[in-house]
Amino acid sequence: MSVQLAYQPTLMELRAGFTPGGWLAEDVPAFLLHNECPRAAAHCANVAMAARKLAEKFGVDPLAAEAGGWLHDVSAVWPDDQRLAAAEALGVGVLEVERVWPKIVHQKLSVVLAREVFQVRDAGVLSAVGCHTTLKAGASALDKVVFIADKLAWDEPYDAPWHPDLREALERSLDEGCRVYLKSLWEQREKLAVFHPWTEEACQELGIM
Ligand SMILES: [Fe+2]
Ligand SMILES: [Fe+2]
Repeated sequence: MSVQLAYQPTLMELRAGFTPGGWLAEDVPAFLLHNECPRAAAHCANVAMAARKLAEKFGVDPLAAEAGGWLHDVSAVWPDDQRLAAAEALGVGVLEVERVWPKIVHQKLSVVLAREVFQVRDAGVLSAVGCHTTLKAGASALDKVVFIADKLAWDEPYDAPWHPDLREALERSLDEGCRVYLKSLWEQREKLAVFHPWTEEACQELGIM
């Protein structure tokens, strides 16, 4: 962990009684269960599996993709109404638009936990965790794999309207998959709580708007 955050009270509290063994497939569920987040533990397992499959399909490092999937929602340990305070306590920069919808800060908080609790140093994995909800301009293939895995392995027992098109697009390419999901966001942007600037930039880059 970094020197600055070694004794940060929020992190110390979350880590109390939890000793990572060095294998994310065990450590992440153990951490989430330890902090009473069983639903997030199951979701992270599903996203890790989906990310690994997508990575194998699109020639991305499957272990990095699986790691991104495991870690992406570890910040579920903070409920939405505690996320801005957690970000402030941990020195995480928050955009104005994120203050309007604090839920979205969870992708940045997961990066801090990945680094400080799980000792992950792989910049590619941390990047994928940090943009798994919004994507961003200049996204790597690994970023896109974790972003799409999160949408494929969503928590509801039914498909979203865009799921069939997404699956079909992924038969063509990873970028096509991203386009399908981003296009659906772009089309409903007026109804969303916020349209994140990183998503807007990704939309521009992928020729959606
Ligand atoms: Fe998430
Ligand atoms: Fe997720």
